[in-house]
Amino acid sequence: MFMKAEITKLVERVAGTDQFEILVPERDSFGHYSTNVAMRMAKQSGRNPVELARELIVRISAGAPRGVFLKIEAAAPGFINFWLTKEFLQKEGFRALGNKSFGKTNLGRGKKVIFEYSDPNIAKRMHVGHLRATIIGDALANIYEFLGYKVVRWNYIGDWGTQFGKMIVAYKLWGNKVAVQKNPIEELQRLYVKFHEEMERSPDLEERGQEEFKKLEEGNGGNKKLWEWFKRESLREFDRIYQLLGVKFDVTIGEAFYEKGLKKLVADLKSKGVAKESEGSLIVTLEKFGLPPALVQKSDGASLYMTRDIANIKYRLAKYKPVKMFYVVGNEQSLHFEQLFKVAEILKLNKAELKHLKFGLVLDEDGQKFATREGRVVLLDDLINKAMALALEIVDRKNPGLSKKDKEKVARAVGIGALKYNDLKENRHSDVTFNWGQMLNISGNSGPYLQYTYARLASILGKNKKQKTNNKKTKPDFKLLDKKEELDLIRKVLQFPDAISEAHDSLLTSNFSNYLYELASLANRFYETTPVIKEPDVARRGARVGLIQVTNRVIKAGLGLLGIRALGSI
Ligand code: ARG
Repeated sequence: MFMKAEITKLVERVAGTDQFEILVPERDSFGHYSTNVAMRMAKQSGRNPVELARELIVRISAGAPRGVFLKIEAAAPGFINFWLTKEFLQKEGFRALGNKSFGKTNLGRGKKVIFEYSDPNIAKRMHVGHLRATIIGDALANIYEFLGYKVVRWNYIGDWGTQFGKMIVAYKLWGNKVAVQKNPIEELQRLYVKFHEEMERSPDLEERGQEEFKKLEEGNGGNKKLWEWFKRESLREFDRIYQLLGVKFDVTIGEAFYEKGLKKLVADLKSKGVAKESEGSLIVTLEKFGLPPALVQKSDGASLYMTRDIANIKYRLAKYKPVKMFYVVGNEQSLHFEQLFKVAEILKLNKAELKHLKFGLVLDEDGQKFATREGRVVLLDDLINKAMALALEIVDRKNPGLSKKDKEKVARAVGIGALKYNDLKENRHSDVTFNWGQMLNISGNSGPYLQYTYARLASILGKNKKQKTNNKKTKPDFKLLDKKEELDLIRKVLQFPDAISEAHDSLLTSNFSNYLYELASLANRFYETTPVIKEPDVARRGARVGLIQVTNRVIKAGLGLLGIRALGSI
């Protein structure tokens, strides 16, 4: 049941406008749901908003289905607040218990969307920005998939560009095979840094790099072999990290794939008059959009990041026919995507909606850009290992009886969950801070807290199964759930579909994460104030067990959407 959608329809019909919001107030003294419709309308007509609210309420009440609302009231400065009846909550809660795919819809049926995320550059380490893209992209893709879209998960790796000419020179001068094989990315990165250091002394290196890249572009066998090898080794490293994170892709096609078609693409742009010459280069003017020109070919004839992205859109449209294409890439590339999307518009390549899903930086606890003490980028491996080590401390404390192997397994899921949730709970436009304490705080708004809540409820369900006095045949009677803590929890469970749908519309995971946190908090409050296993009344116990079941199913599904595993024990 999409409560927000139901109330929206009801209000829309009576008010004759869709210019209003339906909110879930923080405190139920302001209603279970609330709308500002009267305030909006009053502003237009100059009427008194509270009076107007009262008039609307009479008509809304008359049109409302029976038994749903306990009361609908006007409140200053003109809100209309709705409260649901106990009976409605019990009935819907019970229905949700019986619905194995509660929260799922077919909103996306028949629609294909491409989510592009992660996008690391080969021969370089993945950095925390790529980690953010990976975590956010995966979660949003999960949400779209859950709502019935056909989702194509795409890793657009950076595997082309003049830097590979430099890499090849560096490898030929100072590299050795064994070192690369042993630690590919470290070694390649070292060679790349060395190249730039040496270039200060011998500037002709630059030119040699360009030459080698040109040879690579022209298909020179030796260079091609080297490049393929760098790529293979890099992808192997990336895959190891994806495996740790539990992230998968349907397509790993990077920039190099488009190289072959670029000459023709650029010629087309030129003949159509879209691109024109400027100081030897080819540019697309975007002046009328208030943007600087997009460079599509350098004066030496080399193609560019932009050109490859144009080719990429063309290819995707032809091959996949998606309705939307999402690019999960950091804020710092905003201008690139603004330009790209305008070029696509000019080329009528906007058959799919193109959207840059940007995100902020990763900061350390002092608010500085995340780096090691020496100012180098932080290794993802170090980050993941630290998260897992800290998680292991929690597991040791909470569950000392577990075998070493199991502890490690749990610590891995908890550490990764902590990392992911720390990111996903923020509005992606903001910077995220690595505050290890907060991230792993088992009683705060953290991944481990949610996982711990799940495990705690799962253990009650486990204990309940072993009880002899259960009446397994009769269905749980939700009418027996009438304590405030029980009804509050049911109401939160029932907000699940709305929470997913909000994440879908906003393409943000922050409110959804917060929803899960509130749900977990209410679940804990319920459990701490209300006996379940120890409840002597068998029917009441059965109802409470049912409530825990439906709650835990939602927590698990919700965590799953965020890419976080729910475990039976922590
Ligand atoms: N590989 C690039 C980087 O690491 C990001 C690619 C973004 N995606 C795109 N379609 N341009 O900076």
